[in-house]
Amino acid sequence: MKVFNSLLTLTTLSVLISGCLAGITEAELRQKSANGLRLISLQEGVEPEWKTFDEVSELIKEDTGFFDVTEFYDPSNPAAIINSRRIIPATYDAPSRISEVKALFDAISVENMQQYSSNLTSFFNRHYQSPTGAAASVWIRDTVQDFINAYPESGATVSLFNNTYVQSSIIANIPGTSPYEPIIVLGGHMDSINRGDRTAAAPSPGADDDGSGTGNLLEIFRVLVSTRFKPTRTVEFHWYAAEEAGLLGSQAVARKYRTDGVQVKAMLQLDMTAYTKPGTEEVVGLIPDFVDSSLTDFVGSLVDEYLNIPWITSNPCGYGCSDHASWFREGYPSAFPFESALRDSNPFIHTVNDTVDLEGFSWSHSVEFTKLGVAFAVELGAA
Ligand SMILES: *[C@@H]1O[C@H](CO)[C@@H](O)[C@H](O)[C@H]1NC(C)=O
Ligand SMILES: *[C@@H]1O[C@H](CO)[C@@H](O)[C@H](O)[C@H]1NC(C)=O
Ligand SMILES: *[C@@H]1O[C@H](CO)[C@@H](O)[C@H](O)[C@H]1NC(C)=O
Ligand SMILES: [Zn+2]
Repeated sequence: MKVFNSLLTLTTLSVLISGCLAGITEAELRQKSANGLRLISLQEGVEPEWKTFDEVSELIKEDTGFFDVTEFYDPSNPAAIINSRRIIPATYDAPSRISEVKALFDAISVENMQQYSSNLTSFFNRHYQSPTGAAASVWIRDTVQDFINAYPESGATVSLFNNTYVQSSIIANIPGTSPYEPIIVLGGHMDSINRGDRTAAAPSPGADDDGSGTGNLLEIFRVLVSTRFKPTRTVEFHWYAAEEAGLLGSQAVARKYRTDGVQVKAMLQLDMTAYTKPGTEEVVGLIPDFVDSSLTDFVGSLVDEYLNIPWITSNPCGYGCSDHASWFREGYPSAFPFESALRDSNPFIHTVNDTVDLEGFSWSHSVEFTKLGVAFAVELGAA
């Protein structure tokens, strides 16, 4: 997760004012990326900029959200990167499966969530270019496969989604009984980073960012499969690689789904769900920007119906803040319920101190997001 930074650089401001989008040629893309430069999109409506490794490190240090579009920029269609797409308005019915959903909450295990966290944080890091980052992907895939093996009649599947770097994303699905699409997606990112040294050589436990959302997704999936949940619509679970490097993993998946014409009714992003700033009220912070407002309202209604804590509207998260933005840009409705208002979020992410021992880290808080994900999957998947 990246935190909002509203400052425009002088160059992006001048491009915005002139409205002049020169476009980047195929040859320039090939040559500059071969020289180690990355093409970075920092703002909607503005052409991306070439940045050096050190310049990208600065963005990460100062918590500026961005898309690394080096692999995704299409010289024949630059607008696809520059402009966020218009979302076809979707509608969502009020929560109606109250007893069915609440019965599933009994199956949620906080001990399981603690175990996933302990496994995930035991990797030296989950960096997208490190062997331990690759091993973490395989660990998630194997853990999900074990859940499926215990209930083969679910018909659920899991596979790695390979990338151009060693870390894979992971995609699991619980197949719907009638039309396969539109599907429902619950996602989060499985990688971690150290802002002091963003190479594969630095440690980053990433307990909250995003070990918490990764563990929520594992437990939501396990609960649904083990209780023999049979959705009408297919429900998919995504653990994205390389979010911290500029949303690389989620851009690849969202782009492939749009290119393949996959219909997605709703995407829920879980990125940081375990921290409440000491002295503040425990809430779900609904991120208001680069999301679908109807879906966000629907998530608020799930919080009202099913959770023990209230929701608030968070201050904005900004451009390229987390994986929901990759789906938003490809024209899909996404929503992002967060551990707190963004301004009160965990200050120790992207450091060695993002651990479960931190004051304010709370398992009962994170369990609320497991409940939210179970409710999301049942209310939208069973409809
Ligand atoms: C997960 O952690 C448990 C307890 O620390 C350990 O016994 C188990 O081997 C770990 N699993 C993997 C695949 O690392
Ligand atoms: C992804 O990579 C793994 C390991 O290299 C391989 O087994 C698998 O077949 C690949 N999947 C796809 C869809 O290419
Ligand atoms: C981590 O916490 C330790 C102990 O409080 C502190 O000395 C250190 O500066 C912290 N490191 C970072 C990067 O936040
Ligand atoms: Zn994150």
